Amino acid sequence: MKKMSVVCALVIAAAVLVGMSVQAGDHAFVGASKCKMCHKVQFASWEQTSHAKATDVAKASTDLAYAAAECSKCHATNNDEALAGVQCEACHGPGADYKKMSVMKDQEKAVANGLVLPTQEMCGECHKDDGHSKIVDLAAEINNTAAIHEFKNPPAK
Ligand code: HEC
Ligand code: HEC
Ligand code: HEC
Ligand code: HEC
Repeated sequence: MKKMSVVCALVIAAAVLVGMSVQAGDHAFVGASKCKMCHKVQFASWEQTSHAKATDVAKASTDLAYAAAECSKCHATNNDEALAGVQCEACHGPGADYKKMSVMKDQEKAVANGLVLPTQEMCGECHKDDGHSKIVDLAAEINNTAAIHEFKNPPAK
């Protein structure tokens, strides 16, 4: 009896650990060019947004000294200057494990593999009321395709 409950506790602990590592999300970033082949409409319009140009803009700043360590968390993707601009994966999550067609076409599978459906909180990680940036309202910006990108299947809002 006692042995059984110890085994049970171990099984539960293992399940919790596995669950945690999935939640922590060990997915790798692949870069916007990897999304382009299947999402041409979104890519072409995203390229024109200020999000896409955010690293260059920060580097060219005249009133704030540019330093990758201080600027990249908002002016690049995954806090990595090499992933320049606020790319697809800054809003949709790291794509290495969801970008496969068989995963992508199934929303539930894609989310389980790291796809993020953008939320207000997510925008808020970079858009703060801190004297530098301003808070943005996702619901108000959802049709601002010049800031986000054009949609193939526009959100029903
Ligand atoms: C091999 C083709 C392919 C690649 C590569 C790909 N996708 Fe997709 N993606 C799809 C398909 C198919 C769908 C589902 C139908 C649709 O929305 O076009 C989809 C859907 C999506 C959705 C909508 C999810 C939803 O349910 O609302 C997002 C967001 C997305 N992809 C982002 C990305 C990002 C970011 C990348 C690059 C990291 C990427 N995709 C790479 C094929 C692909
Ligand atoms: C917490 C996130 C965050 C950090 C950190 C951050 N920025 Fe920004 N920055 C933003 C956002 C968001 C905007 C868009 C402006 C707004 O919200 O009004 C912006 C706007 C700018 C602009 C103006 C762009 C324009 O089109 O006028 C410049 C220049 C800039 N940032 C430079 C920098 C530099 C340089 C650093 C590092 C020293 C930095 N930022 C750090 C989030 C950030
Ligand atoms: C990784 C950080 C980051 C995330 C996440 C992010 N943004 Fe931004 N956003 C920026 C930065 C940096 C700028 C300023 C870029 C520049 O001016 O070069 C910006 C600019 C903007 C602008 C101003 C565009 C313009 O040209 O006037 C809007 C609107 C905006 N973001 C909306 C959103 C919304 C809505 C979300 C959530 C879906 C979001 N952003 C997520 C960093 C981010
Ligand atoms: C600033 C954040 C942001 C960036 C950057 C971004 N997206 Fe999106 N994306 C959104 C939002 C917000 C939605 C609408 C989600 C909803 O349905 O409410 C969306 C929806 C989508 C969809 C589903 C709707 C459709 O068009 O069929 C796809 C696919 C997609 N994005 C792909 C991409 C790709 C590919 C890139 C890079 C080239 C990218 N996104 C960059 C915020 C972003």
